[in-house]
Amino acid sequence: MAFKWSYFGSVLKGPKETLKEISGSYLGPTIEVNTGDKVRIIFKNDLPEESIIHWHGLDVSHKNDGHPHNAIKTNESYQYDFVVENRAGMYWYHPHPHGRTGFQVYQGLAGIFIVRDQEEKNLNLPNEEQELSLVLQDRYFNDDGQLEYRPSMMGTFGNKLFINGTDKRKIKVKQGLYRIRLLNGCNARIFNIAVDGVQEIKQIGSDGGLLAEVNSLERFYFAPAERFEFLFDFSQYSTGDIIRVESLPLVEGRGKKYTILEFEVSEDLGVMFREPSKLSQYSKINPSEATNLNSPKEFELIPKRGTGWTINGNGYEDNRYENYEIIKYGDTEVWEFYNPTGMPHPMHIHGTQFQVLNRSSGQLKGCLDQGWKDTVLVMPGDRVQVIKRFNTFKGTFIYHCHNLEHEDMSMMRNFKIID
Ligand code: C2O
Ligand code: CU
Ligand code: CU
Repeated sequence: MAFKWSYFGSVLKGPKETLKEISGSYLGPTIEVNTGDKVRIIFKNDLPEESIIHWHGLDVSHKNDGHPHNAIKTNESYQYDFVVENRAGMYWYHPHPHGRTGFQVYQGLAGIFIVRDQEEKNLNLPNEEQELSLVLQDRYFNDDGQLEYRPSMMGTFGNKLFINGTDKRKIKVKQGLYRIRLLNGCNARIFNIAVDGVQEIKQIGSDGGLLAEVNSLERFYFAPAERFEFLFDFSQYSTGDIIRVESLPLVEGRGKKYTILEFEVSEDLGVMFREPSKLSQYSKINPSEATNLNSPKEFELIPKRGTGWTINGNGYEDNRYENYEIIKYGDTEVWEFYNPTGMPHPMHIHGTQFQVLNRSSGQLKGCLDQGWKDTVLVMPGDRVQVIKRFNTFKGTFIYHCHNLEHEDMSMMRNFKIID
């Protein structure tokens, strides 16, 4: 395969199991830590261009967040030092230099970052072999079999799908209950996921970890950077059965469905696990906690004159903030994303995880709004309100569209948390 760039890692100090290679994959090693762990990571840039790593979904300080203005040059190193504050969940890491994020991720730079905690351990969810973490990505290969990056105003789209950085899209499973985590690691592709023949997909988790209880879905839109965790019981199937995870057309009747991946049920029996009746304890943020409940900050997602994208008409500029992009430390705010365009925009905010307060959907329903989120899909016509606490770190962070070509085409802004 024509992938040129990858993250390579080794454990300098601490448990060996912190890093796990995915065999045959272009993805970086999977990093696995516990809430409360102290983490030090040294990033050495061997690329022929600037880069910096962002820990997507982790609540860390400005210095540890991979802000574009902290990008380092070839041969330079950058040291991260942080304590893992997040709850158990599937997070990830990827480059974040301004204007080059899409290209660098496309070359193969990305990896999974798993956080575990005691609350999750007590649930005795399926683990070891019966826990799968799967990254979905698409790439375009030309007639000569060469990887080609073809960015446009729409993003970049592939003609080939990869699961965990390999083209093995059939996964052997045992007859038993599985915990399956999905990450949409595509630059721009949005899936409309369904499982063939299955009426109820049992969602247990989202971007920021476990939900309070199982949420049954028939299908769902799955946008770049979002995570989705579900339980699936393969013990109701027989040896040799194939279960297909598919993407339906985004708009009914327009386009064809396609297979994302397949599970093939083996003759082996898995370990017995039970679906817990309650998952995680967490409370909904009380809307009255917000300082601006009656006057949400509005963020309009609009194209730039010429080419490119903006938020409220503004493109990315280092060290520039509008008034509404300055937030008082400790405040809780409501932000409203409004999408008058014909394209969906998965909006991501760095820092703490947020919750979706409400959505006045256009015609396309079925976005993942449950639980703690760091990325919310704003469909054409949608007005989506999220509520977020700015109570952990002061300093400058960014928010942007996670269609990586949109991000690189300036659909990104700073916000600053001050005293
Ligand atoms: Cu996954 Cu600022 O990004
Ligand atoms: Cu992020
Ligand atoms: Cu966008």
